[in-house]
Amino acid sequence: MEKLVIEGGAPLSGTIAVSGSKNAALPILMAAILVNGNITFTNVPNLKDIRTTLKLLDILGCKSTFDGSTVTIDCQDLTPEAPYELVKTMRASVLCLGPLLARIGRAKVALPGGCAIGARPVDMHLTALEKMGAELDLDSGYINGKCKGLKGAHIQFPFPTVGGTEHVLMAACLAEGETVLENVAREPEVSDLAEFLIKCGAKIRGHGTSVIHVEGVESLAGCEYAVMSDRIEAGTFMAAAAITDGEVLLANCPFKELDAVVDKLREMGVLLEQRDDGVLVKRNGELVGVDVTTMPYPGFPTDMQAQIMALMTLAKGSGIIEERIFENRFMHVQELVRMGAKIKLKGNSAMVRGVDTLKGAPVMASDLRASASLVVAGLAAEGTTEVQRIYHLDRGYERIEEKLTNVGARIRRVDE
Ligand code: UD1
Repeated sequence: MEKLVIEGGAPLSGTIAVSGSKNAALPILMAAILVNGNITFTNVPNLKDIRTTLKLLDILGCKSTFDGSTVTIDCQDLTPEAPYELVKTMRASVLCLGPLLARIGRAKVALPGGCAIGARPVDMHLTALEKMGAELDLDSGYINGKCKGLKGAHIQFPFPTVGGTEHVLMAACLAEGETVLENVAREPEVSDLAEFLIKCGAKIRGHGTSVIHVEGVESLAGCEYAVMSDRIEAGTFMAAAAITDGEVLLANCPFKELDAVVDKLREMGVLLEQRDDGVLVKRNGELVGVDVTTMPYPGFPTDMQAQIMALMTLAKGSGIIEERIFENRFMHVQELVRMGAKIKLKGNSAMVRGVDTLKGAPVMASDLRASASLVVAGLAAEGTTEVQRIYHLDRGYERIEEKLTNVGARIRRVDE
């Protein structure tokens, strides 16, 4: 197994190019199932989850190529079965259910299990698809679905679920008549998916607000589409630049989409300046603790909670971080404590009291963003930090050690 070995203390300096967004690319690739014709995607990050998605699409009959950051894909002869072996490695696989039902009227998709950051059910996805006329049946861990064409429906989500909104939005594009989705997620990745579908000929309006209207069409056609850049990768590098008291320019940085993160970082004493060539990140003296509550977009993203916590461990004063999206997303806390951080957990809140120094230690985390927070902490810690189980990191960060080395970090990948 591979690990990252970090010698902390080097201030980051230079330019980092932000990659394409994983969380936008995954549903957008699944949406290819809906499309009759060739699609070319650019700005696709070369990540494990993306390769898993392409493998799944291949099993479903969608042939693809992946060269650099460009994916071409053609879904002509579809088969309806998504096997458990793939779904269990990536929860987003379940997003092929709705598109398969919409395009060929049948699907057999393994039900994803729980995962390290909570139960993460998909009940809202399934209820909505049933409302659109899908007959769904759970058998031996698989969802068997069939329909005689999906029908437009009025769907009110109990919670603005990101995956649920994306799933039903895709299915509605080929449904008969109008679908109105209320209390939907407003995340930029949802809007990116909608923009792609519109480019293929879908009739969608309202994305980016709480109500989306979709007028079903007969078919969608291929096109060329550039995936948005990754706001969470960008936010992670902002935290890395700030914690090392460095000066980093983030090229291809989605700035507007990071509003809530930028506001909190500024409150902590980080200077963020949008320029023509990117976003410049540096510190304005000492960091100070702040209170953070994760919320659906445009609130503070749960995917940045662990990284801002790492930053707060070295801030002056204290702050409370409240996690409102996932019930069990504090796996990084115990590891940060092993590095000398002072953090107290109470329910879904963490009270972080800043310390003067962190000390390098062997650490590991069992999810993607928790691992990212340990890298951020390791970059500022005294001595050596070894981050184990980095396959989590590799799911969401493209060439992370290369990008960090290029701006002066002392970080290397080692085979244990
Ligand atoms: C969530 C995050 C998203 C992040 C992604 C990866 C939010 C609102 N969503 O998206 O920003 O990029 O994780 O970390 O911040 N739920 C149900 N039933 C469902 C669907 C969801 O109970 O059918 C619950 C989930 O358990 C969770 C909450 O609703 O507590 C939000 O879930 P959802 O937005 O769907 O999660 P993801 O799409 O995974």
